[in-house]
Amino acid sequence: MKGNPEMVKVLNELLSDELTAIHQYMVESEMCENWGYTKLYAYFRKIAMDEMHHAEWLIERILFFEGQPYIKLGELNIGATVPEMVKSVATSESEAVQAYNKAIALAQQIQDQGTVDLLTKILKMEEGHIDWAEAQLDQIEQMGLANYLSMQTEGASE
Ligand SMILES: [Fe+2]
Ligand SMILES: [Fe+2]
Repeated sequence: MKGNPEMVKVLNELLSDELTAIHQYMVESEMCENWGYTKLYAYFRKIAMDEMHHAEWLIERILFFEGQPYIKLGELNIGATVPEMVKSVATSESEAVQAYNKAIALAQQIQDQGTVDLLTKILKMEEGHIDWAEAQLDQIEQMGLANYLSMQTEGASE
């Protein structure tokens, strides 16, 4: 089905952001694993996988609209420390929420309910990522970084 060209362009911009986020979170998950922060490793890996699903769904939608997936990776913002990583999740995910809300407004304007539904599903997952990051920042502030980090190694059996 031939899609709205502006919608396809926006879907491609979202796709580029998703693929950039996958790279960032994958590197950060491996850094956490290297430090032995097993729980953080698992979470960063999980959000990288969430973003991979988003990228897949966006590609499927672009192809459904007979568009050409076009990827332009953005700048990676890899934190050097755990607090920097968590802060970068909060920032990147807030930007993602803004971008998805804007894209949903466009889809509503052109009366494309299928795209509204897809983007809303993704938006809710991005809000979950912000929620996680904000809870971690609160915990770091309330219990101190050392206490927070000591909790991230639990469950490491190997
Ligand atoms: Fe995403
Ligand atoms: Fe996300």
